[in-house]
Amino acid sequence: MAVASSLNPEGPQPGHNALEALTALVAGDLETCNRLIVERMDSEVELIPQLAGYIVAGGGKRLRPVLTLASARLCGYRGERHAALAACVEFIHTATLLHDDVVDESDLRRGRASANAVFGNKPSVLVGDFLFSRAFQLMVEDGSLDVLRILSNASAVIAEGEVLQLATTNDTATTEDAYLRVIRAKTAELFAAACRIGAVVADRPAADEEALTGYGLNLGIAFQLVDDVLDYSALQARLGKTVGDDFREGKITLPVVLAFERADEEERRFWRRTMEETDQRDGDLEHAIALMQRHGALTETVERARGYAARAREALAPLSHGPFGGALLEVLDFVVDREF
Ligand code: IPE
Ligand code: IPE
Ligand code: MG
Ligand code: MG
Repeated sequence: MAVASSLNPEGPQPGHNALEALTALVAGDLETCNRLIVERMDSEVELIPQLAGYIVAGGGKRLRPVLTLASARLCGYRGERHAALAACVEFIHTATLLHDDVVDESDLRRGRASANAVFGNKPSVLVGDFLFSRAFQLMVEDGSLDVLRILSNASAVIAEGEVLQLATTNDTATTEDAYLRVIRAKTAELFAAACRIGAVVADRPAADEEALTGYGLNLGIAFQLVDDVLDYSALQARLGKTVGDDFREGKITLPVVLAFERADEEERRFWRRTMEETDQRDGDLEHAIALMQRHGALTETVERARGYAARAREALAPLSHGPFGGALLEVLDFVVDREF
């Protein structure tokens, strides 16, 4: 990750080519998946396709469905089931975003006003529930109990992670371990499941399922670590989300944990006032960023992400031959170097 403020939002993005390359490898499958997303978010209750269409049209990287599609192809799968399952994964992700933006009171998502800002909290929560339910219908249509088990477990764990996070909010005593437990649950488990079901549809042995699960889980942890850095360091226009949201909310992410650990008494008083009491004034966000920089908290968080990306690489090693394996390895660079 570079210091984003010096960058032009229209300019080339580090690591972006790796995401484009992986996406290009599954372009046909992704088109099918996107068509299914639009078809299956339809309902006679007009507000549902309106609101769901609004967030879907906002774009998004489609990283999780692309991982499902590429994992299936990596495993030699030649059928059609993976496209519907990729849509299902994106529905679960979209539902969590709708709920997350209500919980986090975020008003920017995918470069535009968030659904809760446009339609209100109640429609966002309820349409999120609809999308979750649609995901389960898609799984039942697929008919694999293994897929149903993996994705329903992931959904439950995401919800647990989001609830667990409430307990660490505003608590400057939060440890790195407690933080890791939250991000593993709220983010990494879905990445793990998205990759794993690629091996399941291809009917591959347990060792391959484990390799893809390990890859997805570690990639997911790296992804959220970088996300938590971007919340302080990104160029908002490029990120498409509001920079500083985590700070304003008192969310204790690794950059805060590290800066707090290394803080002197005066700095600790600052963190307690801003994060615990959420008594925040003009210039506090800038001061928080300066303290993080003083203690190397942002760069060290990116280093941690690099460590998890290395673990992901190791996990995938037995399967990393061929174009899909190579592209999955390269996308780890995108995850660490991304700016959006
Ligand atoms: C956002 O995920 C939620 C996190 C886990 C940080 P993405 O950054 O993948 O969101 P979209 O789908 O590309 O908008
Ligand atoms: C994203 O959490 C994880 C889920 C959506 C479950 P965050 O709240 O950290 O992500 P952003 O920054 O809103 O995308
Ligand atoms: Mg959020
Ligand atoms: Mg959140």
